[in-house]
Amino acid sequence: MRHPASEPTPGSSGYDAELRRHNPVLHRACGVQLHEHVLDIGCGRGQTTRQAARTARAGSALGVDISAPAIERAREHARAEGLDNVTFERANAQSHDFPPGCFDLAMSRFGTMFFDDPVAAFANIGRALRPTGRLVMMVWQPAERNEWDVAIQQALAGPDGQVAAAPAGPDPFSLGDPRTVTQILGVAGFADIAFTDVDEPVYYGPDVAAALDWVGGFTSTSNVLKRLDPAAASRAVGRLRETLAAHASDDGVWFDSRAWLVTARRP
Ligand SMILES: C[S@@+](CC[C@H](N)C(=O)[O-])C[C@H]1O[C@@H](n2cnc3c(N)ncnc32)[C@H](O)[C@@H]1O
Repeated sequence: MRHPASEPTPGSSGYDAELRRHNPVLHRACGVQLHEHVLDIGCGRGQTTRQAARTARAGSALGVDISAPAIERAREHARAEGLDNVTFERANAQSHDFPPGCFDLAMSRFGTMFFDDPVAAFANIGRALRPTGRLVMMVWQPAERNEWDVAIQQALAGPDGQVAAAPAGPDPFSLGDPRTVTQILGVAGFADIAFTDVDEPVYYGPDVAAALDWVGGFTSTSNVLKRLDPAAASRAVGRLRETLAAHASDDGVWFDSRAWLVTARRP
């Protein structure tokens, strides 16, 4: 894998740090303009929403997320930065009653893969866009193309390849297949649907201990560990630590990943 050299230390931790190489790609693709009104879907703690608001200085940015704690954090960050053209709302983007035809851009950084009914969700998002408004979202390619997922699953499974059955949860790879996504967006009313391969690594922390802490907090990891007896869980954590150590360098712990940048337009 490539080791991204000489980057500034991430100013933030957690997901913003993990995606420090993806974020500029998404930001460029969004091409936010001074007067635009931007909707950020599944905005989490709002890094991308705040970035959009800083560019759309004569416009606005609204971040929505289904998680109340995430929205609280997003509001705190925006207050701390003194941004007055950004708002955050707790909402299910699939069904929320957005003002129709209001937004120039609907964007998302890995926040659109978890809808119960993706066609209904993207149709709802489409109605919030003005005619010719654009959708720009980053989603994971299939799991097998994502070294981070393959390596973590292998480490958790161990030599016999058995992963403790975890409950089926939200699938971060649900929009990995371009044919499926094209169909979903087409039925939802979008046109000019296009995919760009994003081949950037994810960052898990400055050292193995930090990376283990971060990866151990993934729902997919903790769901597996919870189902193992204490001795098996301890062996699995040991294998995970070895895997992370094998990806550690002077620049921190990095894994290859593959995402799609999906763009589309409301006709
Ligand atoms: C992987 S996180 C990405 C967060 C954020 N976009 C970022 O890059 O920091 C996915 C986010 O989508 C949110 N989410 C999931 N389903 C949602 C829905 N139906 N409506 C709004 N937000 C949703 C989750 O709460 C979570 O914050």
